[in-house]
Amino acid sequence: GRCVVAVDGPSGSGKSTVSRRLAAGIDARYLDTGAMYRAVTWAVLRSGVDPADAEAVAKVAAEVELRIGTDPQGYGVTVDGVAVDAPIRGPEVTAAVSAVAAVPAVRALLVARQREMITNAGRIVVEGRDIGSVVAPDAELKVYLTASETARAQRRSAQDAADVAATAADLARRDRLDSTRKADPLQQTADAVVLDTTELGIDEVVARLRELLTE
Ligand code: CDP
Repeated sequence: GRCVVAVDGPSGSGKSTVSRRLAAGIDARYLDTGAMYRAVTWAVLRSGVDPADAEAVAKVAAEVELRIGTDPQGYGVTVDGVAVDAPIRGPEVTAAVSAVAAVPAVRALLVARQREMITNAGRIVVEGRDIGSVVAPDAELKVYLTASETARAQRRSAQDAADVAATAADLARRDRLDSTRKADPLQQTADAVVLDTTELGIDEVVARLRELLTE
């Protein structure tokens, strides 16, 4: 039957790894909404548009053909037929994505696409910043993952082979932008299960979520 799991939280909280493993374990699809915002940002940079120019950014988002897979074992992202899986993780996109994601027209477009994909999938784990609050407020399970700033910066810098201090600064900057923007800011809903992953391993978090799903 239908089962939508909403996983929200800041960068480095373990969202992606936990969401993918949970989806694979319960035989569900998986949707990385951050990858969609990153793909639109890649298109904005490719077109030479200033990420701060909301009107121009909205125009790019409306014109671009964005495709994303939902296989938790490996999904592809394409923009106008170009595979962008690698460049959307690069520093240029990471630096500009919060500005692009703050544009209401971009969010309206992507949220509509996300809801359509959720309806078609039926059984799906969706990760992002506004899934429990905006995209799927009626999800069967809502999870909010957190971790200390130090733990998050350490995980992310290990993943990207980047300097810890520079990564910590980037995370703090994006946290601030993502949680203070007017349109659908990162937030914890009252009905979300909050898990602090600072001291918890991935397997423990996934096991806890599977328990919650069978309760
Ligand atoms: O991988 P990381 O946690 O660093 O970020 P992400 O999940 O790929 O999301 C990248 C950016 O997209 C975030 O910093 C937000 O600005 C934006 N985003 C959003 O606004 N809403 C979502 N549902 C997902 C991502």
